[in-house]
Amino acid sequence: MKINYSLVTRRTFLNTLFGGWLAAFCGGTFYALLKFAFPTLGKEPDFVVLKTADFMDIPPNSVKPFAWGGQLGLFYKKQSGSTYALKGVCTHMECNVTYKPEDKKFYCACHQGWFDEDGKNIAGPPPKPLEFFDVTTEGEKLIVAKKGIKVELPKA
Ligand code: FES
Repeated sequence: MKINYSLVTRRTFLNTLFGGWLAAFCGGTFYALLKFAFPTLGKEPDFVVLKTADFMDIPPNSVKPFAWGGQLGLFYKKQSGSTYALKGVCTHMECNVTYKPEDKKFYCACHQGWFDEDGKNIAGPPPKPLEFFDVTTEGEKLIVAKKGIKVELPKA
């Protein structure tokens, strides 16, 4: 069967094809330049170094935020006085979580996800517990590191 006419002219077809190729090329180039200029963009650190004095004195049953790369980290002191550090990011779709001291639970407002005080997912859609970090102190430095990462700071 022969088509007598087309809704798309050859010129329109070729312009669209070339435009799409150009957009993909520019997007790829821009992304490569961005990754070159900011190599750590979007990457999580293996550890962060904080000041011990800024975090150890928080009251029991409270949290204090810190920067975990570009994400939220939470330093957490339980009612018992034991301290922890965790990533304050929900394991469902990576919204930030908040601590509810009255319930002693972490809450994600995006889809009503709940985690108990040990970070275990107990309600809502989160599929996994919150990620806890290792916490060590070296003098006035508080070292928060991913589980299993051994951190050796240079001696001053
Ligand atoms: S992102 Fe936290 S419950 Fe969906």
